[in-house]
This record gives sequence, C-alpha cells and structure tokens, in this order.
Amino acid sequence: MIILENNCILEVNNLSKTYTKGKKEIIKAVDNISFRAYKGEILGLLGANGAGKTTTVKMICSLVKASEGTVLIDGIDNFKKRSKALKKISAVLEGNRNIYWKLTVRENLEFFSALKGIDPKKIQDKIDYYINIFNLKEKEKVIASKLSRGMQQKLAIATALISEAEVILLDEPTLGLDVKASYDIRRMLTEIVKKENKTIILTTHDMNVVEDVCDRVIIVDHGRIIAEDKIENLMRLFNVKSYNFVIEGNLSENQKLELSKINHLEIKESSESTEILINLEDNQLFYKVMSTFGSENSVIKTIESKELNFEEVFIKILGRSKKDEYVDIA
Ligand SMILES: Nc1ncnc2c1ncn2[C@@H]1O[C@H](COP(=O)(O)OP(=O)(O)OP(=O)(O)O)[C@@H](O)[C@H]1O
Ligand SMILES: [Mg+2]
Repeated sequence: MIILENNCILEVNNLSKTYTKGKKEIIKAVDNISFRAYKGEILGLLGANGAGKTTTVKMICSLVKASEGTVLIDGIDNFKKRSKALKKISAVLEGNRNIYWKLTVRENLEFFSALKGIDPKKIQDKIDYYINIFNLKEKEKVIASKLSRGMQQKLAIATALISEAEVILLDEPTLGLDVKASYDIRRMLTEIVKKENKTIILTTHDMNVVEDVCDRVIIVDHGRIIAEDKIENLMRLFNVKSYNFVIEGNLSENQKLELSKINHLEIKESSESTEILINLEDNQLFYKVMSTFGSENSVIKTIESKELNFEEVFIKILGRSKKDEYVDIA
C-alpha cells in the first residue's frame, strides 16, 4: 500500500480523554493522541490492558465525548457534524452486543443496512456475498442468539462492513475465537480492504493477527503513542537475530574468554559438543564469533538462526518506552 496524503480518510488531532469524579481528575485514559489513517489500509492499535485503545476507538465513533482534540472523517468534523460524519463510520465494539439477538443472520444484515439508509432489497447480492464469505449460509435463517460466539462475531463484523461506511473500527475482532474462525476473519478483512478500498482500524492483543493483516501499527502506552510505523520498519528497528552454533568438542579457555566479551551469550558444554546461543544486535559480531571458532580450528557442526517475531518486538518497544517515551525510528 502506498500512503498518499490525499488518501487520508481519518485524522485524529490532539485527542485526549480525562475521566473525572466530581471535579477530581481520576485518570487520563488518552493523552494527546494524533494520527492519520488512509484509504485501503488496516491499521492496528496496540497496547497493554488499560493503554487507552478502546477509549480512543469510542471517541472516534463519538460514543465517548473527548475532553480535547478533534476527529475528522473524510474531512468532516465528527464532533461538530456528528450524524454526517457517523455515516462514514461503522464499529464493532469489544464485548458489546453489536447485533440483534432476535433477528436471523440475514435479517441482521438487512436491518443494519437499513439503519445506514440503504434499501436492503437493493443489496441482496451484497448480503449473499457476506453470508458466503463468512461461511454463514447454513445459518442464514437462524436467530443470532442461537449462533456460536464465533459466528456472532462474524455476523457483527459483516453488519459493520455491509454499510457503506468507509472506516470500520473493530475492537478485538478475534478475541476468544477458535483458530479457524480467527483465520477466516483475517482473510476476509484483507480481502474486503483490497476489494472495496475501505479502512479498518483494529485493536488486538493477538500478534498473529497484527503480523497477518496490519499494514501499519500504532502502539499506545498510558494513553500516549509511543511508536507508529509499518510492521517491517518496527521489526528492522530491533534487528536482533539469535544464533545457535553447535561445534564439535569443547572450546579452549582462550576462546571462552573471547566469547565472554560478547553480551547475551550462553555456552552449554557436553562431552562431545558445545552449544553456543547468542542474540546479536550487530551483524559484525557474527563474524567475530566465527573467527573465534576459526582461530583454533573448531569444527562447526550446525548453525541455526532465528529472527525475532513481532510479539517479541512489541514487548521490546513497550520496555524501551519506559526509558525513552517515544521509540525513535529514524
Ligand atoms: N468509563 C470510565 N470511567 C473511568 N475510567 C475509565 C472508563 N473507561 C476506561 N477507563 C480507564 O481508562 C483507561 C484506558 O481504558 P481502555 O478501556 O481505553 O483501555 P484498553 O487499551 O482498551 O485496554 P484493554 O486492552 O484492556 O481493552 C483504563 O485505565 C481504564 O480503567
Ligand atoms: Mg479495550
């Protein structure tokens, strides 16, 4: 996806939410957040429990009143021209009942289209498309309360997508779903974003979902943005590789002394071989390790390398933010 400024569909400017009790401030749930979202992207909003993700999502769809800041959806001020702006947004919120339990699958899709001012008779093909893509064909005449949790979640997402809204907010869309249901939802979100050029903003704690579908992520900590970038850039930021070397026999005292100068290194000796485990932030150190082996003709049996996954990177970013406040990507 190429980011072009005129592709911007959502602009969040200096948004804050302070919860108060009487006149007393109890918590700054969101603290001066600004970001943009673009057409055709899936943007992940990540952060630990209580970081301020749901509050941000609720302010964007004006379910929670912002203490400060503005939200522009396709240039329309969400707080000043609420109903006009809200036509452009759909949301599936965490833990809420986002569908009508007494309506069937098909009726729910018809009802939510009608709510957005679309005549359901005119979009029967689209309803069929969503029913099929979410594997709900067998259940289309079943009332929502009799569906499994995963099916209810798929239906909730379908009702959000069927509207003509350009921005879809999904708070924890795969929470509590089985592996297959989570996979189906991911495939479907990617397909729809591509096909319809919509924008999805999702919150999740599932890093597999993030790696799989998000083009970019914003990481929030204590109500503030601490990192914002494409996944691959955040991964590059922590370009740490771990290596596992196995050499024949044991290392000499000299070799051990040399290797002990390298951080994050562990040596496991057995009678026949030695295993050396290292996390290397700097690739040059790899050659230093190799030359230490070469200096005494140690025979390398195997070398395995492993890159960090996004979950490990995410934890590092949160850890680093305690020290630096903002993770500097440059
Ligand atoms: N209605 C409320 N009144 C007072 N404090 C609130 C209210 N809603 C949320 N908070 C507080 O605001 C902070 C942010 O909460 P929020 O629900 O936005 O977090 P979150 O990032 O969505 O967390 P999680 O990952 O657990 O869903 C928390 O400290 C929470 O206790
Ligand atoms: Mg939440």
